[in-house]
Formats: sequence, C-alpha cells, structure tokens
Amino acid sequence: MRTNIIAGNWKMNNDIFTGNNLINQIIKLLEKENANPNVKIVIAPPYTNLSEAKEIIKNNTLNIYLSAQNCHYEDKGAFTGEISPSMLDALSVSYVILGHSERRLYFNEKDTIIAKKITSVINHKMTPIYCCGELLEERENNTYKTVIKKQIEEALFSLSNEQMQSIVIAYEPVWAIGTGKNATSQEAQEVHQFIRQTIKSKYGTIADNIPILYGGSCKPDNAQEIFTMPDIDGGLIGGASLKASEFISIWKSLKSSKTI
Ligand code: PGA
Repeated sequence: MRTNIIAGNWKMNNDIFTGNNLINQIIKLLEKENANPNVKIVIAPPYTNLSEAKEIIKNNTLNIYLSAQNCHYEDKGAFTGEISPSMLDALSVSYVILGHSERRLYFNEKDTIIAKKITSVINHKMTPIYCCGELLEERENNTYKTVIKKQIEEALFSLSNEQMQSIVIAYEPVWAIGTGKNATSQEAQEVHQFIRQTIKSKYGTIADNIPILYGGSCKPDNAQEIFTMPDIDGGLIGGASLKASEFISIWKSLKSSKTI
C-alpha cells in the first residue's frame, strides 16, 4: 500500500516566531483528531525554522515529519549561502523538496542538477519530493505529457531500483501554483497515471508503491475531490499550508478519501 502524504510548503514565509506558532497550532488541531497511521504530515518551513521545528515535533505521535525546501548536492565546501544534505540530516529532516517550479524558474535549476541533488538526498537516507509539471503554454499546446516525461526521465531514470523506492513525486502544473486555478481531478488523475506508467516502463511494479502528490491551488474546498482519484496519494500544499485550520482540513480530506 502506498503512503499518503500531506506536505506543507511554506516557501519564504514565517520567521521562527510565527513559524513556531503555526506548528504549535497544527499540533493542537491534530491532537483533537484521530491520527491515521497511513497519512503522514510533512512540514517544509524555511531553513531558519528547521532547528526549532525539530524540537517542537520531537516526541510527537502524530505522524509529523520535517522537510527542507531545497539543498545542495555536495556535502560541504565553498558554496556560499548553500545548505548540504548532511546538515539537514543532522537536524532530523526526513524529506527534501527538489525541483520545485519556483527553483526552476527563478534560480534556473535544471534536471541535471536536480538529479544530483536527488541522489545525494537518498544517500543521506532522506526522501526527495521531486516536483514536476508543465507551464500553461505547454498545457495549451498539448505538449504537457512530453514535458513531464522528459522531467521524469532526466531527473529520476539514473536511479537504481533500490533508490527509486525512496522517491516521492509531486505533480504541480505551474499554471495552478498560487493562481487559485487548480487542475480538475480528472486532469490531475490523467497526469498522475501517466507519471506512474512512465516510471513503470523502466522500474516495473516499483511504480505502484511511489506516492504521487498533487500540488497547485489545493484548498479545503477542492481537496476531497482531488484525493478520491486512484493515482493521487496526497498533496503538496503552498498557500493553504500557512493557515493551520486550512492545512488540517486538507489533511482530513485525505484521511477520509483513503481507506487504511
Ligand atoms: P499553492 O502552491 O498551493 O500555493 O498553489 C503549491 C506549491 O507551490 O507547492
């Protein structure tokens, strides 16, 4: 059975004070609910919050894990301003978001570099959340599947079978991120199924166990419908992860959409 995940990508929002507050609010709301062992909660705050976030969530039995939003592929060295996988590992970070479209767009990250980061993160026993997705133009001119296939092949297809087993994928159509315009559940399901088939063509049944999350304007009012789709195993949530009540409402939708 695949793991279901709700991941909150805070992006460049929250300092340690507001961030601690938000995590505490999330925990408070979760404590009132029945946890579902098959639905993990992942929180991806900025680097500056990771150390304090680690302290807040340690000892919890709520199935909450920490993620970083990026990292370098080298372990150490003269890379001013960068953070390495071993530094994240030392902070008990479990996941690292890699290849987010904002990294591709504003920081010119290419799949060749992202592939190196993925390998490095796996070598440190953390789980990459690899983001892929098409631009509006590529959706409109119907080249989106070609684009996504290329992203998957370039970033993931050099992994061994064993390494591939520790991957989480997030399908995030760029036109849906932060725009309030989500992909319909059918549009998302079509791509999720396509991603799974693409991975299956090289890795066989390993593809059946890879969680594929949907991201892009996923909100409390559309989450339930999206999560009922068979190849959608959760969400990577941006804007709605900044409010504890909305984030937990989305988590509840996932919990009720998937049977244990
Ligand atoms: P959004 O962002 O939910 O604000 O659209 C999603 C993401 O970028 O991961």
